[in-house]
Amino acid sequence: MDWWQTGIIYQIYPRSFKDSNGDGIGDLEGIISQLDYLNGTPESLGIDAIWISPIFPSPMADFGYDISDYTNIHPIFGNLEAFDRLIDEAHRRNIRVILDFVPNHTSDEHEWFLESRSSRDNPKRDWYIWRDAKPDGSPPNNWGSMFGGEAWTWDEQTQQYYLHLFLDKQPDLNWRNPEVEAAMLDVLRFWLDRGVDGFRIDVMSYIVKDKHFRDNPVLPDVRAVAPNNLWGKLEHLYDIDQPETHDIIRRIRRLFDSYQQRVLIGEVWVANQEAWIKYYGQNLDELHLPFNFDLLLCPWDAGAMRTAVNNLEAALPVGAHPNYVLGNHDISRLATRFGERAIRVAAMMLLTLRGTPTIYMGEELGMIDGVIPPERIQDPQGINLGADRTRDVCRTPFQWSSDSFAGFSIVEPWLPVAEGHLTRNVEVQSRDPYSILSLYRQLIRLRRNSPALGSGSYQEVLKDSETCFAYLREAEDEQYLIALNFTNCEQQLILEGQGKILLSTHLDREETVDLSTVTLRPDEGLIIRLIK
Ligand code: NOJ
Repeated sequence: MDWWQTGIIYQIYPRSFKDSNGDGIGDLEGIISQLDYLNGTPESLGIDAIWISPIFPSPMADFGYDISDYTNIHPIFGNLEAFDRLIDEAHRRNIRVILDFVPNHTSDEHEWFLESRSSRDNPKRDWYIWRDAKPDGSPPNNWGSMFGGEAWTWDEQTQQYYLHLFLDKQPDLNWRNPEVEAAMLDVLRFWLDRGVDGFRIDVMSYIVKDKHFRDNPVLPDVRAVAPNNLWGKLEHLYDIDQPETHDIIRRIRRLFDSYQQRVLIGEVWVANQEAWIKYYGQNLDELHLPFNFDLLLCPWDAGAMRTAVNNLEAALPVGAHPNYVLGNHDISRLATRFGERAIRVAAMMLLTLRGTPTIYMGEELGMIDGVIPPERIQDPQGINLGADRTRDVCRTPFQWSSDSFAGFSIVEPWLPVAEGHLTRNVEVQSRDPYSILSLYRQLIRLRRNSPALGSGSYQEVLKDSETCFAYLREAEDEQYLIALNFTNCEQQLILEGQGKILLSTHLDREETVDLSTVTLRPDEGLIIRLIK
């Protein structure tokens, strides 16, 4: 198996991980200074790869997802020299480095767009998506931006509209133009040659649009959708997930395959699982891992989680590798979304399922959503679509210690520190053998040292339970039972045979048990090695 199949990925949102130079914003030096926390020492968390959200020059209209230069580092984060050092220091600790590639759109301050908008006959005009107005002056079709309002912005100077599925400051590239593809493959080469171990590709499924720019159908019931959320009112038939996307991904994959051991991960939002699975490629020649958000979208419910896992297991083509995501920089934190009582069982589930887990930084501390005063909202989604939609809540500073600003910075950080940092921090939790951080460390250790958990088969047990999700992981002569109680009441397992409890989410139990009588305490998960 490849490293990205057995390994664990840890997502770093670089603005909020560690500030080394006292400007209130995280940076590359900060990441380098904390690599030991992640891997390389006996006390480390033990993850195998970091995925770093965008660190490239950017006006920061969407905090780095609006890139103005693909082959450099934003001075806020450092420079190429610091980046090379990060790669070296990470590799020395057996940490692979995955960068974020944003191919759907650039910043409107990228020189390609400046050229493109300068005149209708500029050689880069067709690098972006320009269309005439309708006869009445309105936009070419009814498409909406994910960040509110129309997906089209009028350009006075050249008298055409340009398309942006996100902010007007994020114009969409025209991937039907082969010059765009060639330029973007060069960007990937630039970083792969520098030793980057892979990419997470932003909204991979959005890059190609309908050739005829047809209107999207309007959804029948849009009462719950904010008035300016035009995106939320449409069925996305023509603006995303077009068949030509797959040809492009295959060519990107070919580039990756010309290097050794690089991983291609993609963010894929599409209408359903059938469409999603296509992103592995018919011959598994597209994405190694299309991010799987099924669990992230589930309520905290044993049946819902089991169904999501089983559906995936049943649908995956032979050889396609599963993966699971429970949190990222776009969604409310686990402890807030599922409730604090759920975080231990959630960690055990994520780290014992078959497939590559991605941990979002701070989940291992049980961080909760930050409270962002209205005047401090930074995220354009929150500014445009309402405070309840702001993603700032999950982007607050990482909590290193009980010091002021949680040890993240010596000055007031760009976003306020979330509540509870006096207990939910690395320093305090490292000393506490029962902390959620200690649980993550033990789960990761167990997974790394066990063929059954790292690469074994998956089989569900207790098919009909409404309270527990339980499954077997099996490899060679190792057989592990994972039993997760999703309720806050005791549950009886009633299975057959004998086993040894290796780990409880409560971290206080290691004993031989008879599976016909084993009891799960409220919100407890167990990893039990079966005794033959
Ligand atoms: C998905 C990213 O995860 C999100 O943070 C970003 O705003 C959009 N893509 C646009 O690039």
